[in-house]
Amino acid sequence: MDTKRVVADFEDWREAVAEAVALLEDGGVVALPTETVYGLAADAFNAEAVAKVFEVKERPSFDPLIVHIGHKRDLELVAKVPEELDEIVDELMATYWPGPLTLVLPKKEDVPDLVTSGLETVAVRMSSHEVMRAVAREIPVAAPSANRFGRISPTSADAVMEELGGKIPMVIDGGACRDGLESTIIAPEMSEKGPILRLLRPGPISREDLRKIAKVIRPKKTKADHIEAPGQVESHYAPATPLVVIDKPADFVPEEGVKYGLLSYRGEGNSSLMEATDWAHVEIMSPGKGKLAEGAVRLFYCLRNLDAAGVDVIVSESVSETGIGVAMMDRLRRAAAGSKK
Ligand code: TXA
Ligand code: MG
Repeated sequence: MDTKRVVADFEDWREAVAEAVALLEDGGVVALPTETVYGLAADAFNAEAVAKVFEVKERPSFDPLIVHIGHKRDLELVAKVPEELDEIVDELMATYWPGPLTLVLPKKEDVPDLVTSGLETVAVRMSSHEVMRAVAREIPVAAPSANRFGRISPTSADAVMEELGGKIPMVIDGGACRDGLESTIIAPEMSEKGPILRLLRPGPISREDLRKIAKVIRPKKTKADHIEAPGQVESHYAPATPLVVIDKPADFVPEEGVKYGLLSYRGEGNSSLMEATDWAHVEIMSPGKGKLAEGAVRLFYCLRNLDAAGVDVIVSESVSETGIGVAMMDRLRRAAAGSKK
């Protein structure tokens, strides 16, 4: 299959959107840009179309998808918000939608079981990317990241082509993703002391951001076969090249004859690992002012470059676990876990 690449530029992205909507209405799949990572979308209410997403991604059916809506009022099409959570859900939507926050809520019967992997809950978000939002306004879509299962999420149309080129009919090229890491996933719940937010996946909306709204708790680690906090399959976001994350520079002892690549946070002058060996390839997450947000945007891009550089081992520095640094370290640790296999 030829994958048609349509560039959504400022003037005529509407045309690209119309083409994507037509494909989706016809039961097809389309890769679309969002502010986090590119998604592979299908009509959320068409189980056959959703099955194609699993097939194309080679994704196991126990890993549920996120439904993207285009209007806040469309939440009721996919989820049933319990009365006791009305207020907190309204506040979360008012504060963070459209944006990189996914809410896990009890699902409406109409949502196919395949979307939720048979769970009684559904994950929903409203993207702030105008292309995804324009599509979702016409047709709510189930869309996981547009990568093969377990691999690095794509943050550009080039990366989508690397992952799924030839397997899907169309990708809308909306440029590089603004955030670069997948959305924060939370499950709002009512406790005796008031609402709490269970943080299922750290992301661009940080724990500190969420704390302003309600108490945040991080569920205990779950096993892959107990997918209550999914996306949380240990090995995920993995390059094909083995990756190690080094917390203390002294922990890195290079072996003779091994070609190492370095994923550095800030690079020359700000890296304790730079001098540790003769790196065959170096990628710097934040070559600018050394901000975590810049590192987050570039993390998957840099990992992809390192994976393509032909090194034997990728060595990553760790970043401080504050704000989006929590999500960055989450992805790096999973990438390391996945690459060991
Ligand atoms: O930023 C994002 O969220 C991107 C863009 C494309 O929107 N999407 C994304 O989808 O990251 P995906 O499939 O790669 O990750 C979705 C995660 C999965 O790990 C899934 O297990 C979790 O959301 N999830 C989906 N439904 C859930 C549910 N009912 N309860 C808990 N977690 C759920
Ligand atoms: Mg994914």
